[in-house]
Amino acid sequence: MTHPFDLTGKIALITGASKGIGAAIAHSLAGQGAYVIVTSRKAEACADVVDAIVKAGGQGEALACHIGELSAMESTVKDIVARHGRIDILVNNAAANPYFGPIDQTPMDAFDKTVEVNIRGYFYMTNLVGQSMKKTGGSIINIASINGVIPGDFQGVYSITKSAVIAMTKAHAKEWARHNIRVNCLLPGLTRTKFAKAITDNPEIMKQVMPHIPMKRAAEPEEMTGQVLYWASDASAYTTGCIANVDGGYLLV
Ligand SMILES: NC(=O)c1ccc[n+]([C@@H]2O[C@H](COP(=O)([O-])OP(=O)(O)OC[C@H]3O[C@@H](n4cnc5c(N)ncnc54)[C@H](OP(=O)(O)O)[C@@H]3O)[C@@H](O)[C@H]2O)c1
Repeated sequence: MTHPFDLTGKIALITGASKGIGAAIAHSLAGQGAYVIVTSRKAEACADVVDAIVKAGGQGEALACHIGELSAMESTVKDIVARHGRIDILVNNAAANPYFGPIDQTPMDAFDKTVEVNIRGYFYMTNLVGQSMKKTGGSIINIASINGVIPGDFQGVYSITKSAVIAMTKAHAKEWARHNIRVNCLLPGLTRTKFAKAITDNPEIMKQVMPHIPMKRAAEPEEMTGQVLYWASDASAYTTGCIANVDGGYLLV
């Protein structure tokens, strides 16, 4: 008998999966039987992730896909659907955070880049994959951030884009429930990846951050995967438009 988290035969596309949370998600979905398509701007780095997945007994492939580029997303989705017939699971995970500083000094090119990747990239990728999912049903998982609820210090634009991802999740979820497409959103707390290195590798900053995290530690990327696996699988068949924080209690304080 298969268990409700089983993903055997499912085709999963994950953006920004060459490292960090995206790579951990790829490993987790592959571990439950999904065929994972590991993408980021760097195909070689994604191929290393796929090699490790295959060594662990999973299946998948690596593709380059820059989610700031509309044509790259179009050709990637077209190629996957042509070869695999469908996409069952989409994880929008790749994000940009190029500026750290006072909100009123935000360079407009940093504003544009953050919006382009974090809002337009998620939006367009979802709409492209949705065209295929409308025929088959599917699960879309957006990776936003706790900063979409409580803005991060000196991370104004980034926080604004993550709030937009929360709103986007609800908009797609409501409109597409009738197509059996479920759309849910993860809010990671502070997680040890390259993205958060400037915080996690700085003892002074960590001393300021810890009083705000009841569990008194940063997460490991693997700790973000359980919630994603739940939404990717039939275990959450009646769940859509859900926004869940996995943050050691940060949003409680
Ligand atoms: N770490 C945290 O504390 C934390 C907290 C809250 C939310 N998050 C969210 O979690 C997600 C993953 O972050 P992470 O911490 O795992 O970061 P990470 O370790 O820096 O990984 C980011 C991934 O995104 C890819 N990427 C970056 N820009 C891209 C683009 N334009 N197109 C395609 N791929 C791109 C990178 O690969 P390439 O360089 O190979 O393209 C990499 O695979 C993001 O949405 C982030 O906002 C993280």
